[in-house]
Amino acid sequence: MGLHDRWVVERHNEYYYKLAKKLDYRSRASFKLMQIDDRFSIFREGDSVVDLGACPGGWLQVAKERVGEKGKVVGVDLRYIRPLDGVTTIIGDITEDATMIKLLETFGGKADVVISDMAPNIAGHYSTDHARSINLCMYAVDVCDRVLKRNGKMVCKVFMGDMFDDLMQELDKRFTTVRVYSPAASRDTSSEVYVVSKGFLAAHNVKPKKLEEEVKEPVFKAKGSNF
Ligand SMILES: C[S@@+](CC[C@H](N)C(=O)[O-])C[C@H]1O[C@@H](n2cnc3c(N)ncnc32)[C@H](O)[C@@H]1O
Repeated sequence: MGLHDRWVVERHNEYYYKLAKKLDYRSRASFKLMQIDDRFSIFREGDSVVDLGACPGGWLQVAKERVGEKGKVVGVDLRYIRPLDGVTTIIGDITEDATMIKLLETFGGKADVVISDMAPNIAGHYSTDHARSINLCMYAVDVCDRVLKRNGKMVCKVFMGDMFDDLMQELDKRFTTVRVYSPAASRDTSSEVYVVSKGFLAAHNVKPKKLEEEVKEPVFKAKGSNF
């Protein structure tokens, strides 16, 4: 990235950072989810939502606002999330069975929406970061297979790269419409996009992990992924 481009990105990020502070949102990522919802109508009042990679809680705030009092929002992250009114949080790694089981127990039902803003620790090596991001998306798809209602929706962040088509294939199998979108508030990495999927077919639904024996791996893996 050239100097001028970097300057533009920094100003852009600063703008949303200040706006988040002013409006009391925990992260500037909040605006990305608002823009995605405004464009694709993800949330309805009373919806149940699972938010993966939810810390510090910017998306949780937006999801809660949009599903209202009767809605249910559960956030999962490796890191502790400061408590938020009306929101349940789980500390854990979604790639581990124990976290998935905790999510299923806490959630106690089917979700209308699964959102994932999960991002790997950035290695700075393009293809490694991409492969890790795809792997996290595959786990988010696995969560859909376990908790998403028929006709449910999913929003998932992904760093673009050569394994993107593998992810799209998995999503195409499961949802009636799959769209790639880059909200105006998203500019921090040039490769970041959001995949918005609607009309979950529930054809791949699997039993909750706790009912299965010896499940150590997700149901499928990104091609070429060693994680
Ligand atoms: C960009 S931040 C999310 C920001 C959040 N959407 C918000 O608006 O505040 C990405 C998060 O993904 C989490 N994450 C990465 N890998 C994860 C995993 N395996 N399980 C759970 N969370 C994970 C990170 O800890 C990090 O907090």
